[in-house]
Amino acid sequence: MSFDLIIQDIYNQVKEAQDNGKVASYIPELLNVNPESFGIYFSANNQVRYGIGDCGYKFSIQSVSKVFSLSLAYSLKGEDIWNRLGVEPSGTSYNSLIQLETDHGIPRNPFINAGAIVITDILISCLPNYRHDFLEFVRKLSGVKSINYSAKIAVSEKAVGYRNIALCNFIKSFGNIENNPEEVLDFYFDICSLEMSCEELSNSFLFLANQGLNPHSNEQVLTKSQSKRINALMQTCGFYDESGEFAFKVGLPGKSGVGGGIVAVHPGEYVISVWSPKLNEKGNSFKGMQFLEKFTTESRLSIF
Ligand code: DON
Repeated sequence: MSFDLIIQDIYNQVKEAQDNGKVASYIPELLNVNPESFGIYFSANNQVRYGIGDCGYKFSIQSVSKVFSLSLAYSLKGEDIWNRLGVEPSGTSYNSLIQLETDHGIPRNPFINAGAIVITDILISCLPNYRHDFLEFVRKLSGVKSINYSAKIAVSEKAVGYRNIALCNFIKSFGNIENNPEEVLDFYFDICSLEMSCEELSNSFLFLANQGLNPHSNEQVLTKSQSKRINALMQTCGFYDESGEFAFKVGLPGKSGVGGGIVAVHPGEYVISVWSPKLNEKGNSFKGMQFLEKFTTESRLSIF
C-alpha cells in the first residue's frame, strides 16, 4: 500500500473542501495564525515517513500536550494516579465544571482540563525541576532538542484563564490539589503552550504505537500495559464530547487541541498528525477530523 499517494490525494480533496470551522479566539494569541494552514505527517513503526503541506511548521499543541503530561506522571507514579482522577469519558466539553461538584473534585479523566490540572499538580509534587524535566521528557520522546514552551501563548492564556482558574480552585477545595493553585496553573498554561510541528508530534507519539518504547532513545518510557491504557483513554476521552464520533468515523485512539492539531495512533503500526487551525463547535479541528476519517477509510487501517 502506498501511503504517500493516499495521503496526497486526501490532502488535496480536503484542502479544497469548504471549512465551516473557526480559529479558537478565547486565547487571543491563538488567533495569530494563518487559518488556512494545513499539514499532515505520517510516521510508521517500520520507518516509513511521509509529510505534506505545513507539516514542518510549529503550532500551539494545546491539549495534545495532555498525553505527554499523563505519560510522564504515569511513568513516575504508576497506578497511584488513579486515586486522584478517573478513566471514564465525561461526555462534556473540555473545560466543563459541571461534574466536579457531584464527583467531589475527582475529574472524570486526564484529558479534560480538570484532569490535566490534577496531573500537573502530581508532576509539581514529584519533580523538583518540573518545568525543565517535562520539557526534557518531550524532547526525548520526539528526538528534537529545540522543542519549547511559548511564553507569548502562556501569558495570553493566563490573562483570560478564568475557567481554568475556577477549575483548579474548585478541585483544591475538595483537597485534590496539593500545591499552590497559582503555581499549578502557571505550569498547566506552560504545558499547553508547547509548540511543535506535525512531524515532531508524529515522531514523539511513536512510543504509543510501540508498546511504550521510545524508538529514538530505545528507552522503555511506559510499560506495555501503561501504553495500552493511554491508548484506551485516547480512544474513549481524547475528543471530549466528540470522542464517540471520532471512534465511529476514524476508529483510532487520538488527541486533539484547540490549536487545531490532532494526533492519532494505530498501536503496533503508525502515528498520523494533522494540523488545521479552524475548529468545529466541539473544539476539534474541522479539516483534521475530515482528513482522518477519509484516511482510515481509504487505507482501511483503523483498529476496528
Ligand atoms: O485549557 C485550555 O482551555 C487550553 N489551554 C487547552 C484546551 C484544548 O486544547 C482543548 N482541546 N481541544
